[in-house]
Parts: sequence; C-alpha cells; structure tokens
Amino acid sequence: MTRPSRIAVLASGRGSNLQCLLDAISAGQLDAGIVGVFSDRPAAAALEKVPGELRWARSPRDYADRDAFDLALGDAVAASQPDWIVCAGYMRILGGGFVSRFQGQLINIHPSLLPRYKGLHTHARALEAGEFEHGASVHFVVPELDAGNVIAQARVPVLAGDTPETLAARVLEVEHPLLLATTRLLVAGRVAECGAQVHFDGQPLLGPLLLDSAGQLVRAEAVSTPR
Ligand code: GRF
Repeated sequence: MTRPSRIAVLASGRGSNLQCLLDAISAGQLDAGIVGVFSDRPAAAALEKVPGELRWARSPRDYADRDAFDLALGDAVAASQPDWIVCAGYMRILGGGFVSRFQGQLINIHPSLLPRYKGLHTHARALEAGEFEHGASVHFVVPELDAGNVIAQARVPVLAGDTPETLAARVLEVEHPLLLATTRLLVAGRVAECGAQVHFDGQPLLGPLLLDSAGQLVRAEAVSTPR
C-alpha cells in the first residue's frame, strides 16, 4: 500500500485550481492530501479553502529582500513535507534558491500554450496577436519565468468577439481538468523530470501531453488537430 501523496499549494488569488484539487481528493479521484496552502498575499481567497492550521501567508514587504522571503516560504513548505508543490495562481516570481531546493517537485499552471506568452496578460496578448487558439500549460518550474519543461497542455479556440475576460473564462474551464489530470499522473509516478527531459511512463516526452475531450492526457500524436 502506498500512502496518499502530500501536496503543498502556492496561491496568490481566488484559488479555483486549488478547489479543483480539493474536490477531486474528496471525491476519491486524486490519491493525495493538501498539506498546506502558502501565499504571498494574506488576503488571498485561496487560503480560506483549507483549515487555519494549513495556511501560511506572509507579505513580502515584511522581509528584507526576495531571498529572505523565499527562505521563509521554503522553510514553511519544507516543514509540510510535501511530495509535490503546485503553484496554482501564485503570482510572485520564485527565486533560484527556492526553485533549486524543490527541483523536480515543483510545477506551475500557466494560462497560455507555452512557450508562447510567458508572463502576464496572456489572454490580451493572444487576442492582440490574432491567435486562433489559446490554452493552458502545466510545467516544471525552473528559475527562468515560465520556461521549464512543459508536461501537458489544454487548448481552446479563440472566438470572434472574444475579450480578455471571455477568453480567460474559457481557458480557466480547461485549466481545472488539466491540472487535475497532470497531478494524477505525478502522484501515480507516471510523469517525472529526468535531467533535462520529462519522462511519461518511462519514455521521454517529446512534446506536451494534450488534454482530450474526455479529460484524459494523451501523447500529442494521438490527438487529431483540426486544420
Ligand atoms: C489561473 O488562470 C492560473 O493559470 C494563473 O492564475 C490563475 C489562478 O486562478 N496562473 P485560481 O486562483 O486558481 O482561480
């Protein structure tokens, strides 16, 4: 018998991705427990989703510099003894010290089809560029922003008349099943970072897994893309 995986979540905002993981755990769809929610914004709604003893929130303004904040955050995360650390709407850049401390255990969900649109305002930038397609990516975290190995992606169409808000809502709908499906693979030991590569079921992953219409992650070559 293996024990449920211990997942720490870093979040700065509303926490809908965290809620998706909590719901899946309650429904028996994810063999894991949330061992802590960590935030750089003490008012973040995400914190309210777990009991008080699982919350850690500090303002970076109370620390001398990024390294000091990251060290305190890292010590708190480490004390929760996580197997996996999921950045789910964590809006503060993690320094190299934090990232290397948890290398291979640290993933992030980002609202674009990486490597396109790293950073902020992804939906507005995709619309400005006239993209026909947009989406979300889950990737391992490296010190360079949104640049780590991509594990999995979900795509949505850009529709005529879309605004950044309508497009963001369509992307968020696929973020939840994408994050859940990716986390399920991680806790099952089916996905791991091996050196510079991601391995899936023991084989190198040559491109991101894609979320299909049934909410399953499949190798890209198994998905037919409309032309
Ligand atoms: C999501 O769009 C996520 O991709 C981005 O921030 C948003 C967080 O949403 N990094 P929530 O806090 O999980 O609702």
